[in-house]
Amino acid sequence: MNKIAIIGTGYVGLVTGVCFAQNEDNHVICVDKDNSKIERLKKGEPTIYENQLKYYLNKAIYSKHIEFTTNLDYAVGESDIIFIAVGTPSKLDGSVDLSYVYSVVDEIIKAQQKYEKELTVVVKSTVPPGTCEKIQDKFNDALSNYYLLTFVVSNPEFLKEGVAIDDFMNPDRIVIGSPKNCGNINTLYCYDVKPDTELLICDNTVTAELIKYASNAMLATRISFMNEIANIANLVGADITKVEKGIGLDKRIGDKFLKPGCGYGGSCFPKDVLGLIDLSKQLELPSYVIQATYESNLLQKRMISKILAKEIEYHTLYPRDMKVAIWGVSFKPNTDDIREAPALSTIDHLLWQYDFKEIAVYDPKAIPNLKKELGEKSNRITYGNNMYDILDGANFLIIHTDWDMFINADLEKVECLMNGGTIIDGRNIFINKQIEKEYNLKYKHI
Ligand code: UDX
Repeated sequence: MNKIAIIGTGYVGLVTGVCFAQNEDNHVICVDKDNSKIERLKKGEPTIYENQLKYYLNKAIYSKHIEFTTNLDYAVGESDIIFIAVGTPSKLDGSVDLSYVYSVVDEIIKAQQKYEKELTVVVKSTVPPGTCEKIQDKFNDALSNYYLLTFVVSNPEFLKEGVAIDDFMNPDRIVIGSPKNCGNINTLYCYDVKPDTELLICDNTVTAELIKYASNAMLATRISFMNEIANIANLVGADITKVEKGIGLDKRIGDKFLKPGCGYGGSCFPKDVLGLIDLSKQLELPSYVIQATYESNLLQKRMISKILAKEIEYHTLYPRDMKVAIWGVSFKPNTDDIREAPALSTIDHLLWQYDFKEIAVYDPKAIPNLKKELGEKSNRITYGNNMYDILDGANFLIIHTDWDMFINADLEKVECLMNGGTIIDGRNIFINKQIEKEYNLKYKHI
């Protein structure tokens, strides 16, 4: 039986723990400091919205392959492999805040000294290259008098929110970095590895750490590049969907992550782009490309507001007589996560810049998080019960998230409710629908 502890039940830790617990050879203990989270998880209630998570969580609880606790000492005592999956947020200066990681390391060391046991410690949190080596040194220093060994392994995650369970079960690749035979953790994944999954073993931890940063930065750069191409296409009158297709058909480029939009968000791309810029700074290297990605995305997140401002300028009504409706707040579909979501930039702008008669918002999952984020400002917004009721009398409909329900919207109903209004489509979901020809609506896209 593999005895595994996962420290941190955020989206990475929880998905990892629940997925490992599907294997009857594994017993998983998930640890979190937040007692309310642990109590909910014990009852089989997921603390985040993630496709299939509830089903697999309850299956693991039923089969008794998973436990939840706030007691890290107990989890270390009961386990041989410890995964660190706590947050590594950006600090104000863009550098990576590793305080949660290091405080977990300190707690593991204390428990290890108490139980006098050897461990494999796997770092799943995204950490700057070199961090695992520093963590290894910490363990070596603290445990040398106890004659105890600890193997620190880097095993970055590549889970996309919304499809994280599927990504875990069918990964493109599993990356493991360790100078010591990967501390045998590859066997944990072996049962799961599909024929087209590559197991990439690196004989040091920095390589695996850098793969994670480089992957996210590359994807963010592709998106930002396409956003800039879309902005050009809009001005020269090119069809961006054909441009996207034309580029993607080149097998050297491929067709993934080429969708232009109102900017990337989420818990990873913005943070990891900043982390890589900070790393280059520390190494006294230039980081022109990645710096440009960062700045380009900041501008792109303001694109919706820019389009709206232009539309307002030429409108016969004043903002105080106008209603704006917003579809989608989460940074992408199938999640309730609003971290760094482009919708937040737009809402902020609408609240500060204008005195609209009404700002109405609908999102199938993310409204509770939006209310929490906005605090008192939330009172200035109306929330709809469904995607159509907020459109009644709206002069503008802004789309930030490509939820399926929006993609499949009944446009006749939209036309009827908005009566000649303008759609500003931040995800280009209606770009092929001939909106202006077939409906009494104006249409702007990225
Ligand atoms: C990302 C990485 O994909 C994943 O491997 C990593 O482990 C965590 O970060 P995630 O943040 O869940 O995953 O979302 P992802 O699907 O990558 O999308 C990120 C952002 O890019 C979203 O705001 C999305 O709307 C945007 N995006 C994505 C585009 O604008 N265009 C695209 O073509 C793809």
